[in-house]
Amino acid sequence: MKLFLSTVALFALFNVISGHAGHNHGPGGKHVNIPTKQLNDGNHIPILGLGTFGFGDIPKIRQAINWAVEAGYRHIDTAALYDNEAEIGKGISDVLKKGLVKREDLFITTKLWNDKHAKNQVVPALKESLSKLGLQYVDLYLIHSPEASKEDGSPADIDYLETWQGMEEAQKLGLAKSIGVSNFDTEQIDRIKAHSKVVPAVNQIEVHPMNTQEKTIKDCFERNIAVVAYSPFGFFVSRGGPSKDDPKIKSIAQKYGKSINQVLLRYLIERGLIPIPKSTNQNRMKENLDVFDFHLTPEEVSTMSSFNTNTSIFG
Ligand SMILES: NC(=O)c1ccc[n+]([C@@H]2O[C@H](COP(=O)([O-])OP(=O)(O)OC[C@H]3O[C@@H](n4cnc5c(N)ncnc54)[C@H](OP(=O)(O)O)[C@@H]3O)[C@@H](O)[C@H]2O)c1
Repeated sequence: MKLFLSTVALFALFNVISGHAGHNHGPGGKHVNIPTKQLNDGNHIPILGLGTFGFGDIPKIRQAINWAVEAGYRHIDTAALYDNEAEIGKGISDVLKKGLVKREDLFITTKLWNDKHAKNQVVPALKESLSKLGLQYVDLYLIHSPEASKEDGSPADIDYLETWQGMEEAQKLGLAKSIGVSNFDTEQIDRIKAHSKVVPAVNQIEVHPMNTQEKTIKDCFERNIAVVAYSPFGFFVSRGGPSKDDPKIKSIAQKYGKSINQVLLRYLIERGLIPIPKSTNQNRMKENLDVFDFHLTPEEVSTMSSFNTNTSIFG
């Protein structure tokens, strides 16, 4: 508990909410401002994004990006692994052509897959992603995981320090505005810090009330590294996770007149994290965006964290 509260306190120091991503039309036509956070390289990331893993069949993806940007999303998270970059690119092209946003209003993340970890593979892999996305640059490029693999998925003996050199090269070439990691622990981040010029701007990890990740988050914040929280709703699918009828969660949701999913997102935002909920449903996309008009108390954040069992849904 002490550790958790100090993480919250640390967040208050770290969390440089530096601006707003404009007036976006949210649910029911009301304005939703998505605040941004300044990264350690000076760039700004909207503090809630759209996840796109398992985004469904092809026509749905393009449509979902159109709905998302219309609803107010500006931050979209994809990966080479998700095999949806080309369709996401068509959606982005649609919203740019419609004049809904300019390219610089969007924050697009993609990720380097494990089978492209050799230093000389990184820039070509990013160029391939960019070509599918139809973009000149991504806002954030992440090493998807510290584990290198061969194309057949078997382990490859490539140190992620070498991969990071390729990431630095990609940033130098202007192909990625910011670079970061995903699924890295503190020791791995510290090896990068000790041996490289650029400190990762972001670590993207699984966080929800059954996997609260206090230590990694505290360590990232101490190193001025922002944390993007994936699988924010993983809570309910975790082994032994609570049901949506859990009275503690339900009473918090009822107090604010919000859904349980909205409380789960607000819980992450209160902790200084950047959730990236995935939805292809237009109403649920809007619901997930409508989380900027209420706050949880520190006690409610602690209540949500009390479900922690360090359970990863991917573990
Ligand atoms: N770096 C990594 O290794 C890694 C790993 C996993 C995920 N990620 C990223 O994180 C994103 C989010 O994680 P995730 O896709 O695992 O899961 P998630 O966002 O926690 O949950 C998505 C599920 O929740 C449903 N949902 C969304 N909004 C809802 C709402 N308001 N009420 C009820 N149900 C709702 C979605 O269904 P509908 O679509 O039907 O609404 C979908 O089934 C991914 O899409 C991906 O971009 C990264």
